[in-house]
Amino acid sequence: MNLSKQDIIRLLSDEQNQEDLFRKADAVRKQYVGDEVHLRGLIEFSNICRNNCMYCGIRRDNSQLARYRMSENELIETAHRAADMGFKTIVMQSGEDVWFSRERMCRIVEAIKKFDVAITLSVGERDYDDYKAWFDAGADRYLMRIETTDKDLYHRLDPGMSWQHRHECLLALKEIGYELGSGIMVGLPEQSVESIAEDLLYLKEIGVDMAGIGPFIPHPQTPLKDAAGGTLDLARRTMAVMRLIMPDINIPATTAMESLHPMGRIWTLQSGANVVMPNVTEGEYRKLYELYPGKICVDDTPLHCKTCIGAKIMSIGRTIGQGYGGHAGKLPHRAH
Ligand code: SAM
Ligand code: FES
Repeated sequence: MNLSKQDIIRLLSDEQNQEDLFRKADAVRKQYVGDEVHLRGLIEFSNICRNNCMYCGIRRDNSQLARYRMSENELIETAHRAADMGFKTIVMQSGEDVWFSRERMCRIVEAIKKFDVAITLSVGERDYDDYKAWFDAGADRYLMRIETTDKDLYHRLDPGMSWQHRHECLLALKEIGYELGSGIMVGLPEQSVESIAEDLLYLKEIGVDMAGIGPFIPHPQTPLKDAAGGTLDLARRTMAVMRLIMPDINIPATTAMESLHPMGRIWTLQSGANVVMPNVTEGEYRKLYELYPGKICVDDTPLHCKTCIGAKIMSIGRTIGQGYGGHAGKLPHRAH
């Protein structure tokens, strides 16, 4: 659907009629991607990060956080168990931890690829040759949020980083052949509705295959601890408008949505989303990957989470996707 910036601003601002927007986005979701909800098993494999984003709980300067890094074998075994549980996509996410070198990630991707899963990487900004090598090793998708398209805001919030560089990384990933996931946070300090509208148009312009939209939740051990944070309603309206402007892409009901309300992910699935990423990280690591406070499910096991979210999905009349769940049915590419 072609919506102008003004149309988008109007929809994002219209609290009173948001239920109409949610119904419309839900109908578009049903028409274009059907009732299947695709589950991705999310492994948070290292909370070590070279960056210092002002909003993020695992930022470099958070000295109160115990750091961890899974070994190659631990990561591969965690993925193996997730595949045995039935996940057809494994998402590997971490801080920007360059201990995971080009070669090491290639070995890991090649090993996990044997479990007949699609692989999504989400490890931040790296060289073109790293991205290319991991793609050739078998990685299918890459997830990296642009966070905001307001460049001044980005540079205030992500000191030492370059918006232009992040943008170029996204273009490179797409050019290499990854299914591209990006997205934003909603409710950042001084972020306007106009700027969110521009974010959505940007995601459309670069042609994302997946768009992750979640509220910003202030973390007490970061410089933004006293910020107001985003609301579930605005984040949901943003996600719903995304569905209207890109009707057939994958849109997750993000974990941050449920951290603000116990029904957060279900309501989001009922207003345009079609993907959920249950956490399959095990043990203590779940607590230590604390991007924001109140993260759900930190005391649960992977199997409990899969069963729990599966039951919730079925309770709203939706089905669990049995395939790889690529954008427009795209299948994983094979390593050669
Ligand atoms: N290092 C990788 C990267 O930069 O893409 C992946 C990990 S990064 C921690 C994953 C995402 O967490 C970020 O893109 C950001 O949108 C989100 N995030 C970080 N801090 C957050 C917060 N306080 N509230 C909500 N989301 C947050
Ligand atoms: Fe983790 Fe419900 S999804 S316990």
